[in-house]
Amino acid sequence: MAAALYDPQEGYYARSAGQVGKAGDFFTSVSVGPLFGRLLARHIAAWHRQCGSPERWRVIETGANDGALAADILAGLARLSTDAGLEYVIIEPLPQLARIQRKRLVEAAVLESATALADDPLPSFVLGNEVIDALPFHVIESDGTVWLELGVAVDAESGVFIWQPLGPAAAEVAGHLPVMPAGYRTEVRSGVRDFLKPLAAAMTKGGRMLWVDYGFTRDDYYHESRTTGTLRTFSRHRAGEDPLDSPGEIDITAHVDFTGLAADLDAVGGQVVRFEPQGRFLTHVARPWLLEMEGRTDDDAKKELRAFQTLTHPGHLGSRFHVMEAGF
Ligand SMILES: C[S@@+](CC[C@H](N)C(=O)[O-])C[C@H]1O[C@@H](n2cnc3c(N)ncnc32)[C@H](O)[C@@H]1O
Repeated sequence: MAAALYDPQEGYYARSAGQVGKAGDFFTSVSVGPLFGRLLARHIAAWHRQCGSPERWRVIETGANDGALAADILAGLARLSTDAGLEYVIIEPLPQLARIQRKRLVEAAVLESATALADDPLPSFVLGNEVIDALPFHVIESDGTVWLELGVAVDAESGVFIWQPLGPAAAEVAGHLPVMPAGYRTEVRSGVRDFLKPLAAAMTKGGRMLWVDYGFTRDDYYHESRTTGTLRTFSRHRAGEDPLDSPGEIDITAHVDFTGLAADLDAVGGQVVRFEPQGRFLTHVARPWLLEMEGRTDDDAKKELRAFQTLTHPGHLGSRFHVMEAGF
């Protein structure tokens, strides 16, 4: 999965931006329009006030893709006059995406990794929309007695990629799961803690991390009835289930195990302060904005209210996504 998505030459995300949105392969809350970023800006501004409005502070974004969310958050913070002393930092390991982000956002710093930030930690708000689901995971299958990890091999006769059991899954991969009936296949993402560690090291006490994604708590994720896991591929807005079909050309994702994410946040020094559906979170954040919108009937207002509905309605994105936020 790491190679199929992130190989610097052949990876799906390394090709260039353009995966997200109507002309790409899938929609995110960012592609609904600037409102998502503007509402996040209100939430970040409230946190900044709560911290006593520090003179130097950071927003650290991961998975910034084409920079659209960063642009929306920066514009939102400027409108709220909360941008003084702000360093907006994007962590982007892929050089092609970093180039696009630098061109679009002169006011943001784009770094390959967060490690260097630990030398100058600041009050920081770390965030990522649909990033954890894009981190590589292990595919495991029960044989009725133990969990086997599945790897990828090339079939000698046909030359196509095939699944191949690698042997029993390592303890850190499947150790927390009861063994399921033979044939039960699922995913485990074991690298989240390592991903969070340098981000946590970049912040001073009082910092926040906010992750927005689709997923389940552990009981629900590894339920007996979910026999084929949550792995999906996306291409041209069509979902598929075979990641070995056209690797490098399609997106690969699996839901987030939010129980695991909470444990990983705890392990890097964070405490979950919020876990709720995106709809409820944004409706809470949007209260002052909704008051400002009252009585407006112009086309811009109608468009923004439609975007708000898409982001918050349970039938649209409101209950598909959850927000997990931790305080440090
Ligand atoms: C599904 S896209 C979401 C893009 C954008 N946040 C949005 O909501 O439209 C996932 C993004 O996460 C990025 N990503 C994956 N692993 C990452 C890592 N270790 N550090 C930073 N970004 C990463 C990918 O390159 C990709 O741009």
